[in-house]
Amino acid sequence: MTQKRVLSGIQPTSDSFHLGNYLGALKQWVDLQSGNDAFYCIVDLHALTGDIDPALLRKRILSSAAQLIALGISPEKSTLFVQSHVAEHNQLGWIMECIAGFGEANRMTQFKDKSAKGGADTARVGLFTYPMLQAADILLYQADQVPVGEDQRQHIELTRDLAIRFNTKFGDTFKIPEGYILKSGSKIYDLQEPTNKMSKSAGSVAGVLEIMDTPEANTKKIKSATTDAGREVTFDEKGKPGISNLLTIHSALSGKSVSDLENEFAGKGYGDFKGAVAEVVVEYLRPIRTQALKLLQDEAHLIKVLHDGADKARAVASATLAQTYKNLGLVL
Ligand code: TRP
Repeated sequence: MTQKRVLSGIQPTSDSFHLGNYLGALKQWVDLQSGNDAFYCIVDLHALTGDIDPALLRKRILSSAAQLIALGISPEKSTLFVQSHVAEHNQLGWIMECIAGFGEANRMTQFKDKSAKGGADTARVGLFTYPMLQAADILLYQADQVPVGEDQRQHIELTRDLAIRFNTKFGDTFKIPEGYILKSGSKIYDLQEPTNKMSKSAGSVAGVLEIMDTPEANTKKIKSATTDAGREVTFDEKGKPGISNLLTIHSALSGKSVSDLENEFAGKGYGDFKGAVAEVVVEYLRPIRTQALKLLQDEAHLIKVLHDGADKARAVASATLAQTYKNLGLVL
């Protein structure tokens, strides 16, 4: 069987990825490296659609790369690269903008949500064209599968529509990618507001477990997590969202099933349980954080690794772009 081409991207928009990013997506990225031809992209150009702080952006791109490697994305097993290092992304992005309809772009719920937040007048044009650049990210690599969270389903659908439209009109050019929507068990909620997804954009950071946080900080966050009425450690998403979330986290990191954990903590109360969750989280993240910090100490080496990744990526991307230009009638 030939290997599947897998591609995904993540924005370097925070100093640290959080446990929701890891369990919701990045852990699957790591798993998908085996048996597949995986391309993982730090989408720095997409990050320009928000507020731009140059010093912070640079730091976050490097920190994201270091964290991805520390989490288990191997630059040997997969192609790990930074979007802006491969100019073909912008080049195909423009073509996708010329294929997409204004109306269909205007229906993207992520654009509507994000632009509504700051007021539609202040939203950048780049935020509007974001999904077309994302389509280019995917189609350049002839990806079979795109592992993403549920919130990206609509962008993947658009990518498929654009690819089909292009192929139909201009001849076979792009592989039609499948979304590989990451399923349940992976959904982690905010520790303070356990009915909201764990997310950096949500109110405070107190409910967000960060990979680069100190063990002490994460322990504190878990110990002050919102709990629910009652004192039984049982899984009940509606009635006990806080405890259920902690059970999900423990189970995902320790590998124990939720029902085994319910038995283990029967009659023990929330305090003991939180202590155990904190230990599991902290011990899981400790070596990851340590390795990421180590990688960040040798910036030149880290950048070299990313350049090597970009060279591998460009080899694939440039072939797709050339074929695209040719099929469009551009003179090569
Ligand atoms: N839009 C994606 C997100 O916010 C990030 C992304 C950009 C992406 N390009 C991609 C994901 C290509 C998958 C494939 O999560």
